[in-house]
Amino acid sequence: MNTQVAIIGGGPSGLLLSQLLNRAGIATVILERGTRDHVLSRIRAGILEWGSVEMMREAGVGARMDAEGFPHDGTYITDADLMVHIDFLALTGKRVMVYGQTEVTQDLYQAQDAMGTTIIHGVEDVRILDLDGPQAAVEYTVGGERKRLTCAYVAGCDGFHGVSRKTIPEEKRQAFERVYPFGWLGILSRTPPVNDELIYANSPHGFALASMRNENLVRYYVQVPLSDTVEDWSDERFWAEFSRRIPASAAARLVTGPSIEKSIAPLRSFVSEPLRWGRLFLVGDAAHIVPPTGAKGLNLAFSDVFYLHQALISALKRGDESGIDRYSEVALRRIWKAMRFSWQMTMMLHRFDGEDNFAAQMRRATLAHLAESETARRDLAENYVGLPF
Ligand code: APR
Ligand code: PHB
Repeated sequence: MNTQVAIIGGGPSGLLLSQLLNRAGIATVILERGTRDHVLSRIRAGILEWGSVEMMREAGVGARMDAEGFPHDGTYITDADLMVHIDFLALTGKRVMVYGQTEVTQDLYQAQDAMGTTIIHGVEDVRILDLDGPQAAVEYTVGGERKRLTCAYVAGCDGFHGVSRKTIPEEKRQAFERVYPFGWLGILSRTPPVNDELIYANSPHGFALASMRNENLVRYYVQVPLSDTVEDWSDERFWAEFSRRIPASAAARLVTGPSIEKSIAPLRSFVSEPLRWGRLFLVGDAAHIVPPTGAKGLNLAFSDVFYLHQALISALKRGDESGIDRYSEVALRRIWKAMRFSWQMTMMLHRFDGEDNFAAQMRRATLAHLAESETARRDLAENYVGLPF
């Protein structure tokens, strides 16, 4: 089999890239390890920057998002009972959209089906070959049979644990990493949101986040030690802990109910450079991970896709390779700024085990400054709604 762009991984990065390339008349094949149900069952973040919203529309997959998503004009950052409102719209002229990654992925699968693109599920033992030759190849096993796909380019959209990044020789790549000593326990519950906007809550007991999917579905998180498992967290314990971490005025309105999903995710910052190796390009989680505190994971994947789809279209349609030559450098510039913001939000809002008493004062002072300085709030808002791309 032959195609123009082989895409490893059918998560949001791979699907959106395929969607944009096919709309420009470029053929793709997506090779995905899991089943579609598996990909769609993963509960991930739910905030789209406006640039991501516009990309969904440009890709022809914006209709359900526009009908069912919730534009949010701001958010709250709190420390105990100090509540700071960040008014995105007033400070930057932009807003964000509450629309779950699961929905994004579902819309993209549906659009790909409608276009009749090739998505092969259940692939194993993917090998990416001939990256420095005139034509690349991807070998894989599906249904017990070994197959070979040749292509002009390979897009590595296979997440943090994929094969693409590891295909770049170890001595030719550099990893930058910060592992945080805690995780987020998240629950989904069919209850009305405790607040009309998100609340990022710092507290003496640790961080909590009140997010949502719709009028009757919430996504709430609490910071937990890495040694905890979901079995340690009954619904009762979760609600008690969540309620004491958010401001009392919000806790008074909290509606609790059974959780319908519960999981723990560790927090990590990670970047692997470069993003290009011959005919291979890394995109999204395959190249970088951010802690979820700034809601940047999916959005950063989308900005990579933005740069790469334009570069691939120029190369394949016009023979102009300047975009693919610059992809790594251009994408990394934005990636590092989002890394910095996610790290800063994480440091500002979490309690570190064994920290000195100075650390909590620094967090409180940062919040107090945010409360008093429009300049500080605008800086946060500008990063949260998304830097330009
Ligand atoms: N071969 C084929 N597919 C693979 C392989 C492999 N060796 N390894 C992983 N995959 C698939 C996974 O099953 C998954 O569906 O690649 C896909 C990668 O998807 P994600 O991990 O979701 O990564 P990405 O598409 O870059 O999405 C960006 O934004 O909100 C964040 O981390 C969150 O997933 C989100 C990310
Ligand atoms: C979520 O809704 O799951 C969510 C929202 C904002 C974040 C992280 C996760 O920063």
